[in-house]
Amino acid sequence: MKVTVIGAGTMGNGIAHIFAQHGYTVNLCDISEKQLEKAIKTIEKNLLRQVAKERLTEAQAAVSLKNIILYTSLKEAVKNSEIVVEAATENEELKLNIFEEVDTYAPSGAILASNTSSISITKIAGATKRPEKVIGMHFMNPVPVMKLVEIINGYHTDVDTTDRVVELSNNLGKVPVVVDDYPGFIANRILMPMINEAIYALYEGVAGVEEIDTIMKLGMAHPMGPLQLADFIGLDVCKAILDVLYEGLGNPKYAPCPLLKNMVLAGNLGRKSMHGFYKYIPGSKELVVSEKFQNS
Ligand code: CAA
Repeated sequence: MKVTVIGAGTMGNGIAHIFAQHGYTVNLCDISEKQLEKAIKTIEKNLLRQVAKERLTEAQAAVSLKNIILYTSLKEAVKNSEIVVEAATENEELKLNIFEEVDTYAPSGAILASNTSSISITKIAGATKRPEKVIGMHFMNPVPVMKLVEIINGYHTDVDTTDRVVELSNNLGKVPVVVDDYPGFIANRILMPMINEAIYALYEGVAGVEEIDTIMKLGMAHPMGPLQLADFIGLDVCKAILDVLYEGLGNPKYAPCPLLKNMVLAGNLGRKSMHGFYKYIPGSKELVVSEKFQNS
């Protein structure tokens, strides 16, 4: 099966990695050549991590890397694909434009999947002439590590499309779970209110950053505390998803905390900007609470 992944950012490179590792030929497409070069270096680094852990042999890692072909032209990248997985920036207008273009150039039988974390699959499908073949394939970060693929049926998605995407996810060694298309689907409908509540607790001075994260790590066996996880996901992404929940479900309980809004306005977006609830030092795994919250 020929696969195209659109977008070579964090999610796109992880998705391309996992397909290539499982023997699929992947066309990885991005408008930026620089982004593609960065992505292939990241994939190589992550494959070598798996070699070091003896999960892959050196030969398997080399074959996986060879399975990835880079494209800057979307038209060329999708023209022979049986499935296209879009993992571009989480921006509705951008995704609608991409789906319209992919629909024009991909074979008529191809499945068009989106890795969106919150944009309506039904709305995305409306940008195409094949809504029955449009579906959500929501991978989790880091893609090579996380077992889940949340599969989202749009209003018009047909059973054959769902069955094929479930089978494909199983072939990738993932666990697919199928849900319906409502704001935030399931993963973010439950995760984001937890993160938002942790930010509210910090904002109201109930406890500090380390205390909140330690309680959830040691008390609830979460691998990361909610504030560390918010930094990992990106505070702008968290806010955007909460906005979708708030607007889509019409319930004030989803309104993003004013502190989250302020941090996004200030450009402290978490790991990607090296500063969020924590401060990040290049090359170091040490977690240092941002000076902004050191006395809270
Ligand atoms: N590629 C390949 N392997 C990777 C990797 C990558 N990108 N990142 C980490 N790993 C591997 C490591 O090699 C290591 O392997 P072993 O278990 O064999 O030792 C393992 O993952 C753990 O990594 P580390 O030891 O470096 O670090 P860690 O123990 O702190 O784990 C983590 C890192 C896996 C990210 C862990 O902290 C974790 O699970 N965090 C929660 C992640 C999470 O919740 N993700 C979902 C976010 S929400 C989302 O994605 C969707 C959305 O819509 C917002």
